Amino acid sequence: MPRSLPNSFPGAEHLAAAGRSEEGEGDYRFTTLAAEQIGWVVDIERHSFACPWTAADFDEIIRDRSAVSLAMLLRETGVGYAVGYVDGVDFHLANLAIAASQRRRGWGRALLYEMLRTAREKGCQTCSLEVRESNSSGIELYRRCGFRQVGVRTGFYSMPRENALVMHAGIENF
Ligand SMILES: CC(C)(COP(=O)(O)OP(=O)(O)OC[C@H]1O[C@@H](n2cnc3c(N)ncnc32)[C@H](O)[C@@H]1OP(=O)(O)O)[C@@H](O)C(=O)NCCC(=O)NCCS
Repeated sequence: MPRSLPNSFPGAEHLAAAGRSEEGEGDYRFTTLAAEQIGWVVDIERHSFACPWTAADFDEIIRDRSAVSLAMLLRETGVGYAVGYVDGVDFHLANLAIAASQRRRGWGRALLYEMLRTAREKGCQTCSLEVRESNSSGIELYRRCGFRQVGVRTGFYSMPRENALVMHAGIENF
């Protein structure tokens, strides 16, 4: 693995096991999202969400100096991305996805961990997010990484209209 991961975050053992696979799947790295990555990011986005962000949305994010974005590359192929915003001591995680063919291998957890570590470096102490209440994989990922439900936003999402769970975590240990 190119970077050493602490044992302190929830699920670290699982990720370490993924990184030890014989195929060398631990060979991953992160970059700030760049314009030339928008193509594969939008492809993953379209296969991940009912109301996907567009290339123009990601282009705006890249230009927005208040946005924090990460691309995850597995042996130089894009497999995931995350976007969030610093809001005082809180970090608002706005988007996170892993390519469908690469799910359940620990990459979502690794990407979330890296985003929270980045937010921590920027001075954040907590992280908040909204997630569709039907999104069991997302909710479970966040729970496993220490997030707890703190509220519900009724009708927050459209197409289809759905409630959002509001989740929150302290990120001092990331
Ligand atoms: C949610 C998502 C990012 C998870 O990525 P992933 O790489 O599959 O996640 P990981 O392999 O790191 O899984 C970490 C933990 O999340 C939970 N999890 C992930 N997918 C799950 C699923 N389909 N069902 C139940 N739990 C799941 C598990 O607890 C898992 O730990 P385990 O494998 O030890 O049981 C991925 O499914 C995705 O991109 N979904 C579409 C976009 C999305 O919903 N994003 C989140 C809301 S913004």
